[in-house]
Amino acid sequence: MSAADLLVPVPCLIESGDGFLELDSATTLAADPELSSARRWLAHTLGASTGWDLFPATAAHARISLRLDPELEAEAYRLEVGAAVVIHSGGPAGAFYAAQTLLQMLGPAAFRQAPVAEVGGGWQVPKVSIQDQPRFGYRGVMLDVARHFMPKDNLLRFIEVMAMHKLNVLHLHLTDDQGWRIQINRYPRLTETGAWRRESSLGSWRAGIFDGLPHGGFYSQDDLREVVAFAAERHITVIPEIDVPGHSQAAIAAYPELGTGADVEVWTRWGINETVLEVSDTSLEFYRNVLDEVVEIFPSRWISLGGDEVPPAQWQSSAEAQAKAAELGLPDVSGLHSWFVGQLAKHLDGHGRATSVWDEIGDGELPDGALVASWRGYEGGLKALESGYDVVMCPEHKLYLDHRQADGDGEPVPVGFVITLKDVYEFEPLPAGAHDAYPGRLLGAQANIWTEHLDSPRRVHFAAFPRLSAVAEVLWSRPEDRDYDGFLTRLEGGHLERLEAMGVEFRPLSGPKPWQLRPGVVGWKRDYDAEQRSAAE
Ligand code: ACM
Repeated sequence: MSAADLLVPVPCLIESGDGFLELDSATTLAADPELSSARRWLAHTLGASTGWDLFPATAAHARISLRLDPELEAEAYRLEVGAAVVIHSGGPAGAFYAAQTLLQMLGPAAFRQAPVAEVGGGWQVPKVSIQDQPRFGYRGVMLDVARHFMPKDNLLRFIEVMAMHKLNVLHLHLTDDQGWRIQINRYPRLTETGAWRRESSLGSWRAGIFDGLPHGGFYSQDDLREVVAFAAERHITVIPEIDVPGHSQAAIAAYPELGTGADVEVWTRWGINETVLEVSDTSLEFYRNVLDEVVEIFPSRWISLGGDEVPPAQWQSSAEAQAKAAELGLPDVSGLHSWFVGQLAKHLDGHGRATSVWDEIGDGELPDGALVASWRGYEGGLKALESGYDVVMCPEHKLYLDHRQADGDGEPVPVGFVITLKDVYEFEPLPAGAHDAYPGRLLGAQANIWTEHLDSPRRVHFAAFPRLSAVAEVLWSRPEDRDYDGFLTRLEGGHLERLEAMGVEFRPLSGPKPWQLRPGVVGWKRDYDAEQRSAAE
């Protein structure tokens, strides 16, 4: 089997030729000026793994050339390996994806950060002609760096691994009850106080066990600018999430005037929290100021305001919330939830940005032009599509990669539904029976990686891979080219080795390694079918 038959995600069209092209230290690189970012990335990445200089050359003489073809879509490419490697792409993104495909065909060692073989030695690429383009424009991952902080270097590496899979959106969940991870100059206590907690629940919060260990960390604004630029060079948009009006206890611990009552500390427990923001002018002004700094760091068209899981209990007993609901003519305080998010969405609109929200906001009023991330199943997304909104599907029972990967007690901290590699591979962004002519646009889907039980980058790797490789194929490749057995063959024949070369500590297909287990740490298993049955009763 040739390396062209081991690509992940599988390309649209592969025509294999005979034999190989040898590349060596004399390999030269050319690119049209519009594609210089892809040339820079390829020279840097392939230069590191081979030890070659990859000197520039004219397109006619280069061993590898990147050429613009305006007839192609921006993310599409053609890659021909014959006497030379010739890449045509519709834009820089397409050229970048072609460069990723080339790297995959060069073998796992191409993903290392320094040469492991003799530097002068040759590398082989199979002679092949590939045509490729993505199925969806939004191929996302949500990473929760609030519950457990991911150090910047590990985050950059995670982005590199996303890029290798041609994923293109990183939704960064920066704030939650258990931590605030983004420096805000105007409000330094958000990170002085809000970026760490005394200790954490160990395993499911229901077990009532705490680890006694302080946890914390945050990104400076320059760290985040670096992350954004690093991601942009790899055609990944970073969407920051500042979650309101629930999931805000870390902010309230730092600035108690944001809350509805008693002082709180940064939350040490997992689970849904009744502590919410007071829906006051003070809170709105505070978050407008926060967002003013957020938009300066993140050029993304979308900024997420979260809006998930907001219990109304505190507002029900808050005179200020009651008065606000009455003033707005709302039947009860629960309407304050989407009203508050809507106010901040207007502020983002004033900055020329659109708002992304979790689907709960659609139970009330969605902001104009919102992007809806449908996590409570498909329903919120379908409703938003019917109402003309943009939607990204991320149903919990299909794409929550913190959920257990197999049944039984063998998974570390077994929480949530069983979501196997095959389940993920068989995911479709629209459920069976959905029509395909909604007024709204289905942009794609995203895998969500919550980190209550993933307390290190190693654990994030375990949860994410190789299931995220399956997500990438669902979102990039054509459904008719998808074949689970073929996917397994490509994983076992080459892709897992690529992940190893990148230092990714994935879950082996046969189950966790001994040191990936968490004996004695209590999980919380859920059964999707049983929950559906009891909801129907
Ligand atoms: C979520 O899982 N609370 C979006």
